Amino acid sequence: MFIAKEIQTAAYLFASILFILSLGGLSSQESAKRGVFYGIIGMIVAIIATVSGQGVEGHVYIISAIVVAALIGLMLARKVEMTSMPQLVAILHSFVGLAAVLVGFGSYLDPKTQLTTEIDPINGLSHAEHMIHLVEVFIGIFIGAITFTGSIIAWGKLDGKVSSKPWSFKGLQTMNLVLLLACVILGVLYCKEDGTGGMIYLGIMTAIASFIGVVLVMAIGGGDMPVVVSMLNSYSGWAAAAAGFMLGNDLLIVTGALVGSSGAILSMHMCHAMNRSFFSVIFASGSGNGSGGEKKAIEGEVTSLNHEEVATLLKEAKSVVIVPGYGMAVAKAQYPIYEMVQTLQKAGKKVRFAIHPVAGRLPGHMNVLLAEANVPYDIVMEMDEINDDMPTTDVVMVIGANDVVNPSAQDDPASSIYGMPVIEVWKAEKVIIMKRSMSAGYSGEDNPLFYKPNSEMLYGDAKVSVEKLLGFLRA
Ligand code: TAP
Repeated sequence: MFIAKEIQTAAYLFASILFILSLGGLSSQESAKRGVFYGIIGMIVAIIATVSGQGVEGHVYIISAIVVAALIGLMLARKVEMTSMPQLVAILHSFVGLAAVLVGFGSYLDPKTQLTTEIDPINGLSHAEHMIHLVEVFIGIFIGAITFTGSIIAWGKLDGKVSSKPWSFKGLQTMNLVLLLACVILGVLYCKEDGTGGMIYLGIMTAIASFIGVVLVMAIGGGDMPVVVSMLNSYSGWAAAAAGFMLGNDLLIVTGALVGSSGAILSMHMCHAMNRSFFSVIFASGSGNGSGGEKKAIEGEVTSLNHEEVATLLKEAKSVVIVPGYGMAVAKAQYPIYEMVQTLQKAGKKVRFAIHPVAGRLPGHMNVLLAEANVPYDIVMEMDEINDDMPTTDVVMVIGANDVVNPSAQDDPASSIYGMPVIEVWKAEKVIIMKRSMSAGYSGEDNPLFYKPNSEMLYGDAKVSVEKLLGFLRA
């Protein structure tokens, strides 16, 4: 059964409103679940309205594909660990990019999008419409191809399959500029061709754009990967919007623009949080702010405590700040950590969490994990809210965090994370660093914090260590 065009437009409008409400809901932890619910309803409305639209054929294939894809999605969502989410998000972005490329080629070859001719004056497009369509196809494929290959490289970097070190060389910017210019020239030649004669130019441009996607993301170092993931999210939105123009689907245009702009805004916020220039990250003009020269020698000695000694320190402390990082997510230590917090609170201590904006592997990673363990929001502080309190804090427990507490970001211009704001844990009376070894964090930079006189290492898996501490605290 087909629905009238007006009903479809009304359904699209309703779905667009739900998507906007969904984004609004996702902006805070309290309303995030509601936001996801709006998004699901909006997507169901959108799919039903599209599939039952006038002129849609092959319903059996469409519904079968939706069912198979939904089952795969369900299985993946159940299986994927929270720590592997960024990789999953990156690979999903690549699908959007690939879809935009395929829609672009399909739309270019579609007889209905050709110019009207004397032989066939009814079907086809006028000259102006045809030119607009050609440009839409070209831009859509260009953004789609960059998103496709860029996202695959991002997935590889986040999954450890591709080195997280930036791959760059002198003249990279010039090469990118030349390639971009080549694409513009190819675009002009392609627009001049009749019929499907521009296929060759479209094909060459797709190859160049795919290469640009690889180079752009390869040139970005581990420290800047959070921005890249959200930027690729934005690109995938623009690719979807471009596909919407090619297909003449208003909802896809609106949804794509929503994803594209929200991803770009998030990227800008993240750049601000990491003190990075938005354009230098996006155009890969050198990863990080570091000068790349000789690194400062680390002075001091590493000392460690055992669990009983750390428990004694905690019993004596009045104020405790916990800085979680990626290791907390790996160890799934958030549950015993909250039990430990409650035990300390019952003993009259002031306990708070300090969250760095890029702690973990995806925006809001730590907040989600702490919310999962029912940690109340009022003791979860942002980095800027708590940094001033560090000098009056008795004990800071750094649990599975590394880069986000690295003082080199402030005092070593040669460090790749130089300039990134960090949680100034070293200003506290005592710092306990809970991790399994002396190995570096995601950026690959050594951490002088471990060598400071007021720092003590507590080696071991974060969950096992916190459970042991709990035992001593309750004894
Ligand atoms: P990292 O700097 O990556 O350090 C995590 C530390 O956790 C490691 O040094 C590791 O040391 C320790 N660890 C791992 N498994 C553990 C376990 N089971 N128990 C205890 N410790 C464990 O993490 P961070 O401080 O959260 O910083 C995040 C980094 O990731 C930043 O560089 C950031 O730019 C990058 N990044 C962030 C995002 C977003 S959006 N948040 C996305 C991509 C990348 P051991 O091996 O010695 O235990």
